[in-house]
Amino acid sequence: MTGTCIELKNLEFQWPGATRPLLSIPQFTVQQGERLLLRGASGSGKSTLLSLIAGIHTPKAHQLQVLGHDMGQLSQRQRDNLRANEIGYIFQQFNLLPYLSAQANVLLAEHFSTARRQRIEQSLRASKLSSHKEQARQLLLQLGLSDSDITRPAHQLSVGQQQRVAAARALFGAPALIIADEPTSALDSEHRDSFIQVLFAACQQHNTTLLFVTHDASLAHHFERSIELTELNQVSQESL
Ligand SMILES: Nc1ncnc2c1ncn2[C@@H]1O[C@H](COP(=O)(O)OP(=O)(O)OP(=O)(O)O)[C@@H](O)[C@H]1O
Ligand SMILES: [Mg+2]
Repeated sequence: MTGTCIELKNLEFQWPGATRPLLSIPQFTVQQGERLLLRGASGSGKSTLLSLIAGIHTPKAHQLQVLGHDMGQLSQRQRDNLRANEIGYIFQQFNLLPYLSAQANVLLAEHFSTARRQRIEQSLRASKLSSHKEQARQLLLQLGLSDSDITRPAHQLSVGQQQRVAAARALFGAPALIIADEPTSALDSEHRDSFIQVLFAACQQHNTTLLFVTHDASLAHHFERSIELTELNQVSQESL
């Protein structure tokens, strides 16, 4: 896929019950395949913006296009389908199912998406891997988990390990867009660097767009573009 992945035009967002808008963004475009770092102070609205792009919350019509869809005009179900098929979301709080193993958590990504299942079938034919389970295992190994970690329930893993399971789940089935909300906050520098390398290699392989939020300014040099939310948002921090 080529062209524009995300396009915001005069996006306005206010949480229900809030006394003022949180986001007012005149223009913001991300190209397909681009790797972009988004920074901003705590509470500035980064996770809110990501949740609008991922279709978890609803913007108004004509303000936000994602992968060619006007997110304000899709139904909740259509947005859920788009996310299941085309968007890998690494949540700030991971959202793993605690009693499923790491590997079963990764396999969940295809459970809800025919499109992902089909892409996994295709990549299995092209590789020497024997099964979906084996492909999930390989992804987890690449992210630095061990075979014994992979079969343990997610709640028994460390926070940094859970973060990597969440990343594997987002990558599984090659979605067109990866949204990563502080995905390296619990990793030491060695795991952080290998995490970034695996993430970038997977994105490059499938021309996946990567929108990555972090407080860690030292990661900026890895990215083609690095922006502050305040550069985009006309609602000033002082008024929030
Ligand atoms: N579900 C919600 N309902 C109402 N207000 C919310 C909700 N989620 C976030 N907010 C408010 O929106 C503002 C921005 O929150 P958000 O989580 O987007 O910030 P953030 O930039 O991701 O911060 P952090 O770096 O701490 O993760 C905050 O004032 C928060 O209270
Ligand atoms: Mg946040």
